[in-house]
Amino acid sequence: MNLAATLRRDEVTLRPLRRRDAARWQHVRRVNADWLRPWEATLPQADEAVPATFGGMVRTFRREAAAGRSVAFALDVDGVLMGQVTLGGLAWGSLRSGYIGYWIAREAAGRGVMPRAVAMVTDHGLGTLGLHRIEINIRPENSASLRVAQKLGYRREGYRTRYLHIDGDWRDHVSFVMLAEERPSPSLFAELQRCGGDRDAATSPHRYGIVRDTGGQVPPQMPPHP
Ligand SMILES: CC(C)(COP(=O)(O)OP(=O)(O)OC[C@H]1O[C@@H](n2cnc3c(N)ncnc32)[C@H](O)[C@@H]1OP(=O)(O)O)[C@@H](O)C(=O)NCCC(=O)NCCS
Repeated sequence: MNLAATLRRDEVTLRPLRRRDAARWQHVRRVNADWLRPWEATLPQADEAVPATFGGMVRTFRREAAAGRSVAFALDVDGVLMGQVTLGGLAWGSLRSGYIGYWIAREAAGRGVMPRAVAMVTDHGLGTLGLHRIEINIRPENSASLRVAQKLGYRREGYRTRYLHIDGDWRDHVSFVMLAEERPSPSLFAELQRCGGDRDAATSPHRYGIVRDTGGQVPPQMPPHP
């Protein structure tokens, strides 16, 4: 099963990364290095091979997609590469599970692009690909990313201690999950649009004790973990 695909909604396109993206991708990564560093996966052991070139990375992504193991989407906003969304860690058989990871350039942040992009990948994974479960794992300090999971209505499942190696150390993560039977009909993307880009605010405005539509108060934060 080759997982490579192109998904389009409004100004957002998710597509395979190409060799000719090299200059733009390297530019975005360079100017956003400080923005991304606290949330980027790192390797605890230096002996694991990572592609040394952009071309090598594209080849690795193609191989992973062709093998059904993961699919890395370049995220274009109005035709300009601004980030990436990965549906990874795919397991089939009796599990049919994967995770979604993502980043977007600072200049494109705050416009609700990533919730829509993750909704598109969730619909693709739980719908077209027939996965049963998708996870998003987020550091508890990452309030912007926690809002993405909240806006999408992913269900908070638990707390994972020192779960992933991020920014040079093992970091705790909060796990959010959506199961195929939890995905709204006809699609998560359509439901997100219907709710004005925030399913959490639309369905439970009082969940965190904050009324979102009066007074310009701060966005709700996740409750403290147990
Ligand atoms: C997390 C991230 C993908 C969110 O994408 P996005 O397209 O900006 O998502 P949204 O527009 O829905 O904004 C989500 C929250 O980010 C925060 N935010 C918005 N603009 C911001 C900005 N310019 N700078 C910092 N945070 C901002 C707000 O809290 C917002 O929530 P709100 O809409 O309730 O105010 C993006 O901030 C990012 O790429 N961060 C760095 C990498 C990262 O954290 N990846 C995820 C690892 S789990």
